[in-house]
Amino acid sequence: MTHCFLRFSVIILIITTVQLSQARSSTCCDDYCYSLDPDRTQSKHFATKTAYEVVRGSSTSQEHVVRHCRPSKFWMLVRHGTRLPGKSDIESMPPILNDLRDTILENYAHQISPKRGLMCAQDLDLFKQWQWDKNITVQYESFLTDQGWDDLKSLAMREKDRFSEVFDGSYAEQRYLFRHTKTQRTEASFKAFAEGLFGEESLDSISTEPGPNDDVLLKPYDFCPAYTANKEKIKDPDSELSKFVRSPLYTQTLADISTRLGFQDVLTTDQIDAMWNACRFEQAWNLRQPSPWCSVFTKTHVNVIEYKEDLNYYYQNSYGYAMGSNLSCHAMADMMKHMGREDGEQVVGYFTHESAIQIFLVALGATKDTEDLRADNYYSMRQRQFVSSDLAPFAANVAVVRYECDDPVEPTKLKFFLNEKTLKFGWCNRGLCNWSEVAYQYRRFLDGNCDEMYCG
Ligand SMILES: *[C@@H]1O[C@H](CO)[C@@H](O)[C@H](O)[C@H]1NC(C)=O
Ligand SMILES: *[C@@H]1O[C@H](CO)[C@@H](O)[C@H](O)[C@H]1NC(C)=O
Ligand SMILES: *[C@@H]1O[C@H](CO)[C@@H](O)[C@H](O)[C@H]1NC(C)=O
Repeated sequence: MTHCFLRFSVIILIITTVQLSQARSSTCCDDYCYSLDPDRTQSKHFATKTAYEVVRGSSTSQEHVVRHCRPSKFWMLVRHGTRLPGKSDIESMPPILNDLRDTILENYAHQISPKRGLMCAQDLDLFKQWQWDKNITVQYESFLTDQGWDDLKSLAMREKDRFSEVFDGSYAEQRYLFRHTKTQRTEASFKAFAEGLFGEESLDSISTEPGPNDDVLLKPYDFCPAYTANKEKIKDPDSELSKFVRSPLYTQTLADISTRLGFQDVLTTDQIDAMWNACRFEQAWNLRQPSPWCSVFTKTHVNVIEYKEDLNYYYQNSYGYAMGSNLSCHAMADMMKHMGREDGEQVVGYFTHESAIQIFLVALGATKDTEDLRADNYYSMRQRQFVSSDLAPFAANVAVVRYECDDPVEPTKLKFFLNEKTLKFGWCNRGLCNWSEVAYQYRRFLDGNCDEMYCG
């Protein structure tokens, strides 16, 4: 009797163990080899460190061509191009990454790795060759990179080509207004853009408007205490972001990433963040060369981490921050002022940062979902409009173009473009908006006093 029971228990034990190990291996992971993937579609989902080239509208798109209309003015708010990491990242990343590289290779050499979803030999080879680029030192923190220069220069060339009536002729101070924030990366972005328009030899003759110290046009969020307080609130334990980070979906994702790399324990947030940032930066600096740090994440993992990023931006800079709808008041009023009249500068270019793009989209009422992003609706929001990778990659830009049309009632029309794709609004005809309708939709920015309004 006892003997029989013992045997029975052993069998149960064996079955349970088999089930457990199957459960573990079935959640980790998809079979995936980054090096051999010709598409690497996940590189379109690196949130605000997504490369502009993989997100922007097509060079050959004809969306700018409007029948019976000629473009006459161009106004653009643009984020700096691809940059180097900031100071704290440059200091913290190399030791963490060197250690991870060595341990991952050791884990695989000793076959401490999962049964399914193994890293492929090609991806491991990327690790063998990887080292931190010694040129990236704190002296150059957040500087624009070569790719970042190219982002802005080629953007300018495409826009000049599309709107040749507006960008006609050589530079003249009274026709162009440029302004950038007080950073190397936005100043260099302006220069790259100007080079794309006028050529390298004209660079020294092109002037910029000096911004005031408190530049509420380009960086309103730096001078609004309510914005700063809200940003802190996103770290509270009951925020949607914090709840998502504690959710089974997210914690399992980090566990799977760790398992796949051969770790017995789940990696720390600092380690995961270092790999995620190294992946996104390296891929944005060098579009064609696969980064070993991206091979760490399967497409499923990237979608989950992107959602975590989106939750943060949604509650910081978008519709999740109820007080944010007037934050971009000065930029909106400026756009309306320039677009509402025939005279004045024909081209306006403002070189700024990712948050400025996001809050401007909110003021426009663009890319709004019917439901808020929350910790518990990841799956139902898979088709959401608010995707920070699409809205605010490196070199993200909103362009507003004024057209003069053969329409006796409404000759002035505007078209809005986000990253070179038409922005559609319910109150416009396929993206082409009557000026009177624009003036009505955004009347609070035309009539109001932005100094009083922008920060609630
Ligand atoms: C570092 O900078 C030097 C000089 O500009 C350059 O020759 C070298 O290729 C750079 N190294 C890397 C890894 O980019
Ligand atoms: C935005 O400004 C308008 C006009 O001043 C005001 O009615 C509205 O309440 C403001 N919205 C927020 C969120 O402060
Ligand atoms: C724009 O104005 C024209 C009048 O010329 C009108 O026919 C058209 O319906 C308006 N479009 C929208 C989307 O309001």
